[in-house]
Amino acid sequence: MENFEQLKTVKFYSGEATPLEMHKVRVVQKLNLLPIEERKESIFGAGFNTFLLQNKDVYLDMLTDSGTNAMSDNQVAAMSVADDSYAGSSSYTKLEKAIQYVFNQKYYLPVHQGRAAEHIISKTFVKPGKVIPMNYHFTTTKAHIEMMGGIVEEIYTDEALKIKSNFPFKGNMDIDKLNKIITKWGAENVAYIRFEAGTNLIGGQPFSMANLREVSAIAKAHKIMLLMDTSLINENLYFIKVREEGYQNKPIKDILHEMLSYTDFSYFSGRKVSCTRGGGICTNNHDIYMQMRDWVPLYEGFLTYGGMSVREIEAMAVGLYETLDFDVISHSPTFIKYLVDSLDKKGIPVITPSGGLGCHLDAKAFIDHVPQNQYPAGALAAALYVASGIRGMERGTISSVRDANGDDILADVELLRLAFPRRVFTLSQIKYAEDRIQWLYDNRHLIGGLEWTEEPPVLRFFVGKLKPIGDWVDKLVAKFREDFGDSL
Ligand code: F0G
Repeated sequence: MENFEQLKTVKFYSGEATPLEMHKVRVVQKLNLLPIEERKESIFGAGFNTFLLQNKDVYLDMLTDSGTNAMSDNQVAAMSVADDSYAGSSSYTKLEKAIQYVFNQKYYLPVHQGRAAEHIISKTFVKPGKVIPMNYHFTTTKAHIEMMGGIVEEIYTDEALKIKSNFPFKGNMDIDKLNKIITKWGAENVAYIRFEAGTNLIGGQPFSMANLREVSAIAKAHKIMLLMDTSLINENLYFIKVREEGYQNKPIKDILHEMLSYTDFSYFSGRKVSCTRGGGICTNNHDIYMQMRDWVPLYEGFLTYGGMSVREIEAMAVGLYETLDFDVISHSPTFIKYLVDSLDKKGIPVITPSGGLGCHLDAKAFIDHVPQNQYPAGALAAALYVASGIRGMERGTISSVRDANGDDILADVELLRLAFPRRVFTLSQIKYAEDRIQWLYDNRHLIGGLEWTEEPPVLRFFVGKLKPIGDWVDKLVAKFREDFGDSL
């Protein structure tokens, strides 16, 4: 695996493994880095919830890559030739052509973002009591399926939830478990099998083509439809090319076409895949297309815009062609690898191997003195913001729910996700993140837990508020000043 990842990288004379930007920056946005005392005030104001921080108070926004990726010059240029019309826009025709060329899919239904596609797919194909096996769920996916009365069955492999691993395809499905689920429920009760590319919630981890091929053969044998979530397909393509035997010399387009040839239909969030907004559902199957088609004008907008602005449609078409460029899809994974490997070498607990969405710190190990019912991932997210102005996302028990007795259902893993929006950050900014994470790790004994002050009953992680248990934030600020003097 190590050797494959050297593919088409620039070697430095010094021998250092340094990722190199294959683009130059021509439009910039000014950033603020507040002094630590003001960062402390901001996190108290936000109720120790990074979702509630104001962007102006954040130095590096690593909350998500959704809608925050950099656009290319050609995408921005395309937006200025947009053909505004409710129906029959020539911008839409361009997008349809891009879908056909890039994905090799004949039919396309436009929607305003990924979860809107999930809404239409679930409404059409999920009935009460039907089962949807998948490598791993995504939050909105699961919510839409369950709203229609469907049952999500996750069939990840034993490697998937291991924090430290060198398994290259943690997003694979466990074939044995898939067979057992089909036997248990009966093929007629399986609505479809969902395969998520670049599996988000287990650390942006890819699946292999070999695994997809096997899953597809099982699906076909049982006449079950196979759906792929291609929101994070870019990095999954990159990993198949560099990690899977036999794909190093294949063009990206051929790899993508092979992947989609195993599916019956697919959908994507344009906020991720094409660095724009919007989304869509794609298929080569006319019957599948027709079953969903009429929901689009009802929920999204007419069939030639689906809730997207025409400017976004132009930019999306260009963004889709750009996913076939190795320089574009290799950027995030190589920068993520740089940070993950440097932290791992220092003994800082982080998910390995590096994936395609961000760097995921293991908060349970990072601050093992903070009990899980005091929310270590949330506490670490707040502590990192205070130490650096970097905003990450809690992916642990705060993102979970309570059981019928009102007790927290403790999450399998307590992660702090530091997302890498594509082509947004420079290497020195990533080195800054590495430096402050290292400082925080060396001072981890100072970090304490959190407790709720306002806890909403639904999706509490979005707008809920907490406070620190004890005065650990003051201690962290004092130690920062001791070590860094008057540095920001
Ligand atoms: N599928 C995956 C794999 C996703 O990561 C997301 C969004 C969606 C579907 C939904 O798409 O946001 O356009 O409605 N992920 C974002 C994130 C929210 O922060 O990881 P959407």
